[in-house]
Formats: sequence, C-alpha cells, structure tokens
Amino acid sequence: MDVTTAIQKRRSIRKYKDKEIPKELLMQILESARLAPSGANRQPWQLVVVTDAKKRKALVPVCKDQKFVGECSAFIAGIDDPVQKWARVDIAIALEHIALVAEEKGLGTCWIGAFDQEKLRDALGVPPGLVVTAGMTLGYPDEAPEARTRKTMSELVHWESYS
Ligand SMILES: Cc1cc2nc3c(=O)[nH]c(=O)nc-3n(C[C@H](O)[C@H](O)[C@H](O)COP(=O)(O)O)c2cc1C
Repeated sequence: MDVTTAIQKRRSIRKYKDKEIPKELLMQILESARLAPSGANRQPWQLVVVTDAKKRKALVPVCKDQKFVGECSAFIAGIDDPVQKWARVDIAIALEHIALVAEEKGLGTCWIGAFDQEKLRDALGVPPGLVVTAGMTLGYPDEAPEARTRKTMSELVHWESYS
C-alpha cells in the first residue's frame, strides 16, 4: 500500500477484534515512529506500549471511560519532554507514522487525547518532568467507519498569503 492510499483509507477505529498483534509486526509498526523526523533530530520522545489486557483495562477510567482502550490489542502512549520546544509536534508526527503504517499492515488506530494526565502518568510510571502528549489505540479493526468530513481545499489552503 502506498502512503497516499494509507492516508485515504485510515479511519479512527473504536471497535477491535480480540486478537494479539504478533511481536514482529508490532516492532515493524513501532519502527515507523523511531524513523520519524524531529526538531534538530532531538527525538525528545518515549513510547510506552501496553499490550497486557489487565493493564489496558485499567486505563479505561483514566481515558474518560473510552471502552475501546481496553479492547484494542495495544495502547501506545506518546511521551515527551516539554522542555524541548518542538516536543509535542515531534511526538505527534511519530504517532501518525504509527497510524499510517498500521493502516498499511491491516491494523487500525485511534488517537486518544481524552485522558487524565496525572492518572495516566501514574498508571504508566512516567518519570517527573515528562508528559503524556497523546495516546493511540492499535489493533485489528472490527468496524469499517465511513470517512468523516473534511474542509474543502478552498477552506483549507491559502495561496501566497492568508488574506
Ligand atoms: C489529537 C487527537 C486526539 C484525539 N482524541 C480522541 C479520543 O480521545 N477519543 C476518540 O474516540 N477519538 C479521538 N480522536 C480521533 C478524532 O475524533 C478523529 O481523528 C476525527 O474525528 C476524524 O475522524 P477520522 O480519524 O476517522 O478521520 C483524536 C484525534 C486527534 C488527532
């Protein structure tokens, strides 16, 4: 699958099959985050990957009761060092790499921004000073949602200047 197709086909998946991701495949997907660009190549990121079902289920109340956090195969927390200027941008790029490679491999993802920062940090054992910028569920899709609407090109793109 080429990148354009992966971008076009990707949907947020909130219903997953109860199926483990083979370790080798999970590592291939995570490799896409490792290769992501970052400001000055600082790579100010860490990923916590939670595959253990009991641990994932414990994250559901921490993630505003989003049930599918407990039903996916892996929950990935994108952690960054807020002292680094571009840290939030960097981890976002890395997570979206994961989303696109997951799509290519036949898996689904959903970004998770709705969570309690302190509780998630505690649950994942994140050291002081670092923050969880976003999470992502990963697993085998058990739904095929329609594409959500997007702005039109003319609503989005300004040629040569904003006004
Ligand atoms: C930063 C960010 C945070 C998000 N947080 C959540 C979330 O907590 N729960 C959820 O169900 N979807 C979440 N989403 C998914 C968006 O709702 C979704 O991307 C958007 O509705 C467009 O749908 P699509 O991804 O299927 O194209 C998040 C997306 C982004 C980029």
